[in-house]
Amino acid sequence: MADLTTYLDQLTLKNPVMTASGTFGYGDELPDYVDLGAFGGIVTKSLTGQPREGNAPPRIVETSSGMLNSIGLANIGVEAFIREKLPIVREKDMVLIVNIAGSKMEEYCRVLELLDAEEGIDGYEINVSCPNVKEGGMEFGVSEPHLEKLISQLRALTDRPIITKLSPNVTSIQSMAKAAVNGGTDILSLVNTLVGSKIDIERQEPVLSTVFGGLSGPAIKPVAIAQVFKVSEAVDVPIIGIGGIKTAADIIEFLMAGASAIEIGTLNYRDPGLGPKLVPEITKWLDEHDFTTLEEIIGIAHE
Ligand SMILES: Cc1cc2nc3c(=O)[nH]c(=O)nc-3n(C[C@H](O)[C@H](O)[C@H](O)COP(=O)(O)O)c2cc1C
Repeated sequence: MADLTTYLDQLTLKNPVMTASGTFGYGDELPDYVDLGAFGGIVTKSLTGQPREGNAPPRIVETSSGMLNSIGLANIGVEAFIREKLPIVREKDMVLIVNIAGSKMEEYCRVLELLDAEEGIDGYEINVSCPNVKEGGMEFGVSEPHLEKLISQLRALTDRPIITKLSPNVTSIQSMAKAAVNGGTDILSLVNTLVGSKIDIERQEPVLSTVFGGLSGPAIKPVAIAQVFKVSEAVDVPIIGIGGIKTAADIIEFLMAGASAIEIGTLNYRDPGLGPKLVPEITKWLDEHDFTTLEEIIGIAHE
């Protein structure tokens, strides 16, 4: 049976299937329904320095092959996470990645420092790419010098792995990837949502209270595959592929484009147990195609 172990810098994952931030809570809500230990890793919702209520409703709308959201980084704040959620999730046998967001460099740094004093966290994913907030760190996601500076400041504060989550809403995702690597990121994850909008033609007004939201789900998979392909040719750090994953074939496609692991987002809303269901299907595909390790197919489409 093929070995699904995959490596993200110093992190070893038993399989490449992770959850995407914002679509799986803090990892503590679902253990009665989903075997958390069956995932390669869990990524929490973005945490900020203070609790955030997020944007006014309506903030979710279905689109063809996807959804638009403008949640706006609603979260309980880093201190409540450490008090109420971390003691529960760190007991589970899984790689735990905490996603961090902020509006200012100091906020990112403070959140990371508070988390770094705690046991049981395996790494940080830095959200510099949320399109749904007025002050959500997006300036870091679209400006190379800002991104490099932010990541180098965070790098100096921790020995744990740093994953920088890139935005697809840029002219050159390769140059953003290079800036993150220059700042010292160990790993990259991509992509976050694409900016989108929807108009209610009967009411003749935008559906979302914020007019624009983030498009996710199967509609964005080809964009994400292209971005992973490009970034894996531009830098030499492991990549986590994200965007519209629904099937084991989708996962295999991301791996062949150059990702070493993947995150499932929108499809968790349909079935939070989807990730673990796809794991044996990846093994089956590898066995049927005479691959003995997952590593053999990572980036194979470039050869
Ligand atoms: C409702 C919703 C909330 C999200 N919240 C966050 C978040 O808090 N932080 C973050 O980095 N990404 C967030 N994302 C983006 C996802 O993690 C993921 O990058 C994106 O949805 C693309 O993957 P998918 O097509 O599998 O959903 C959110 C996505 C959705 C749909």
